[in-house]
Amino acid sequence: MKNANELVIENKMKNKFLVHRSTFVDSEILKMERENIFSKCWIYVGHESEIPNPHDYVTRKVAGRAVILTRDADGRFHTLLNTCTHRGALVCREEKGNSKTFLCCYHAWSFKNDGELIGVPHQAAYGGHFDKKELNMYEARSESYKGFVFVNFDKNAESLEDYLGNAKEYLDLVAEQSPNGMEVIGGSQKYSIRANWKLLGENSIDGYHAAHNHATYFEFLIDDGLDVSSGVVGYGKSLENGHNVVEYKAPWGRPVAKWIPSWGEEARLEVEEIKKELEQRLDAEQAFRMAERNRNLWIFPNLIINDIMSLTIRTFDPVSPDSMDVTAWALGPKDEPESLRARRLDTFLTFIGPGGFATPDDIESLEACQLGFSTMPEVQWQDISRGMHKEEATTTDEEQMRGFWRRWAELMSKEKESEVLSK
Ligand code: FES
Ligand SMILES: [Fe+2]
Repeated sequence: MKNANELVIENKMKNKFLVHRSTFVDSEILKMERENIFSKCWIYVGHESEIPNPHDYVTRKVAGRAVILTRDADGRFHTLLNTCTHRGALVCREEKGNSKTFLCCYHAWSFKNDGELIGVPHQAAYGGHFDKKELNMYEARSESYKGFVFVNFDKNAESLEDYLGNAKEYLDLVAEQSPNGMEVIGGSQKYSIRANWKLLGENSIDGYHAAHNHATYFEFLIDDGLDVSSGVVGYGKSLENGHNVVEYKAPWGRPVAKWIPSWGEEARLEVEEIKKELEQRLDAEQAFRMAERNRNLWIFPNLIINDIMSLTIRTFDPVSPDSMDVTAWALGPKDEPESLRARRLDTFLTFIGPGGFATPDDIESLEACQLGFSTMPEVQWQDISRGMHKEEATTTDEEQMRGFWRRWAELMSKEKESEVLSK
């Protein structure tokens, strides 16, 4: 394997940006990504609205680990590693629920929902030195930014706010779409893709592929009476720290708050009301961007927020170099009127649902790329140079991807502390 800093080559003189294809197939690289990225960065766990009440919890896979996101009696949230401190079994095996305690299925140790060990059957057999406090469940450091809960397995990591940095401006445009706050709606969509996890990140902020790869969707919009001739116009930006974004004008409608004729006259009034509320509460530019502009935000390394014809949170977790598990949730304003909620969910499914206009096309393309990487090692490099000569990149350039790869290379080149110490 090459050194990580030889896998990403940036030549500013020649406007060339190359990524070595082994980054998508090599199991050693995935192992390093788990150590240098997934164990060091802030990784998205869930949204606070998924556990609104004391004792609510959800379980999920985050950074390859099984975790439980809980809310305790005092309303504080906790991210616990879902492994029994006795001999390892998953402590909670439900997807979600409301419980003050968790009972391990194996020998019936029980834990409070903040991780405290409270019950050990026949405890006397351990003798007098047995200290329950040493055997609480492992609680990982977790912080929330405007309802988005992240976890970090590196105790020395910077704060979540510092980590998010310039991405906060874009997260705010999502988190503040309603005066009542935002909530995850219903359940989740889960699917797998036979491709490397980084490909879905790239794809989600790649404006270049939209017109061709999603031609069927644009045909559908034309059939729906929309004028698509002005296309998708906007910018692509690296936000530093590996985060990046595309923000743009597009022909489709937005539940917040851009009406299109096929929604009908009644909806027009509802959407105008939403727009008015935004204009009263926010400054003019923020309200305009929230209502009229779309954004696809990639928070490093594996959180995507698509704020487009609907609003979705999407994460993807590598299973092996050539496969990932994807989970997606719809997000919307709390207390949203029924008709608006129905429109939001309809547009959610139409484009980005697993059977929508976008996702099957994207999956097909990503799996086609992966097939090339794993079977044809003769072709070694990806070209991600598009728009490098420009001052300001557009959505169809690749600056946003380069932002990801620069940070990827930086983190992957870091020596392990143990290696530094042994020198
Ligand atoms: S492994 Fe959980 S009680 Fe033994
Ligand atoms: Fe796509």
